[in-house]
Amino acid sequence: MNTKTTVISESELAQQFAFCDKISAYWRDENRTPAAYVETYGCQQNEADSEKLRGYLTQCGYAIVQEAEGADVVVMNTCAIREHAEQRVFGNLGALTHTKKRHPAQKIFLCGCMAGQQKVSERIRKSYPYVDGVFSTHHLWQFPEILWNVLSRKKRQFYVEDEPGSISEGIPQVRDNTLKAWVSIMYGCNNFCTYCIVPYVRGRERSRKKEDILAECRELIAKGYKDITLLGQNVNSYGKDLDENVDFSDLLAEIAAIEGDFLIRFMTSHPRDAGKKLFDTMAANPKIAKQLHLPFQSGSSRVLKAMNRHYDREKYLESVRYAKSVMPDLVLTSDVIVGFPGETEEEFEQTISLIQQVRYDSLFTFIFSPRNGTPAAAMDDPTPKEEKSRRFDRLCAVQNAISEQIHQEYVGKTFRCLVDGCDKGFLTARTEGGRLVRFEGNAELIGSFQYLTVTGSTTWSLTGTLSDKE
Ligand code: SAH
Ligand code: SF4
Ligand code: F3S
Repeated sequence: MNTKTTVISESELAQQFAFCDKISAYWRDENRTPAAYVETYGCQQNEADSEKLRGYLTQCGYAIVQEAEGADVVVMNTCAIREHAEQRVFGNLGALTHTKKRHPAQKIFLCGCMAGQQKVSERIRKSYPYVDGVFSTHHLWQFPEILWNVLSRKKRQFYVEDEPGSISEGIPQVRDNTLKAWVSIMYGCNNFCTYCIVPYVRGRERSRKKEDILAECRELIAKGYKDITLLGQNVNSYGKDLDENVDFSDLLAEIAAIEGDFLIRFMTSHPRDAGKKLFDTMAANPKIAKQLHLPFQSGSSRVLKAMNRHYDREKYLESVRYAKSVMPDLVLTSDVIVGFPGETEEEFEQTISLIQQVRYDSLFTFIFSPRNGTPAAAMDDPTPKEEKSRRFDRLCAVQNAISEQIHQEYVGKTFRCLVDGCDKGFLTARTEGGRLVRFEGNAELIGSFQYLTVTGSTTWSLTGTLSDKE
């Protein structure tokens, strides 16, 4: 397999900017400002990609709007992680036939992880003739070219060839938020967990150069960003493919050393590679948020092996013990899959006992969804759907009780929080660990760090008041 990372050259990117100029000129001739709508499904990687799509669209002269109705361009940036995610996209795509009928010049694009699956692009080709362009994540950097080809040739465009993946620096971004930013530090995944589609649709693991990441972080901090989340499917393998000798902990420490009042966090950590060096680095740096998302997937070592996760229950618990010992205030979250093929009742109980032992602040819970082409989709799966739903409900109940208890323990304590917005007459803020706190205050506080004393709690959020503590 070709694992060499291709870096998109400056001249290749300049060609894309030339397409942006052509598109701008096209709309100048039409004498109006066109509108574009980008709809994002899935994880933060897709959110970050959508910021690039909006960046390109803005450069092409489009105004970014919040609904598909009447937009000249609609881009659906899709997720393939579970069947339900794909069904939602096909449903919403179906609804766009009506939107397009009312505005026949509308151009519709489908991109993201679903577009990286051949069966999806074939289905679009055959059954969705009003979709004008399909491109996988590998071709996002060519979006201006694809859009121009659709506008000028009046022909459907499919940029879906499979590739190991590339890195492109310098695509413009229109960020969603002025306080919190995503920074992708790497792309793709080499882990091939047996249930997961991501390595097939996002290609091989590839790291951005440390200097490029540092430059982006410095720029964000200079612009007033206060909360930066570093993104990668497995951030702990950062740097393994680079010539320079740098690992994820080194990168974190260097970002934390940038001057300014900000926090950095990251996702996702793979338990196989998250070790003492990472936890010690987090503990030693006040600017690294004491928040860790460490997906465990299952509490059974047999199931973990069948998932190809490369750690067992004991190793996972040992990592958590160490992390908590050096960071007593650590906020810990995780992902778990219920009903992996062949999971027995006893193995499911091991998942419950792991949750009770670790006591996560919150959990993202999923029922196993077979993904075409992954090894797990071909495994024997005798457990009936109803039984999986029962296990799922039981697991959620156990976790909700734990989340509620942990939140109750916050009451009476004071936390430094970033005030990040307002909602229904209240200001909203996040603790360092990412917990939501609502409180009454002046909107001028948005964008600042404030000390809040927690006065009330529910399973999902906290309420508080401003504290005198400076
Ligand atoms: N790279 C991250 C996870 C990305 S996907 C990691 O390894 O932790 C986010 C979560 O979706 C996974 O952690 C897993 O819990 C869930 N997931 C992935 N594939 C799934 C599938 N086929 N069925 C159900 N849940 C799945
Ligand atoms: Fe999927 Fe596993 Fe890679 Fe995460 S580490 S993206 S679960 S293959
Ligand atoms: Fe979905 Fe792709 Fe993310 S499959 S979860 S959008 S990497």
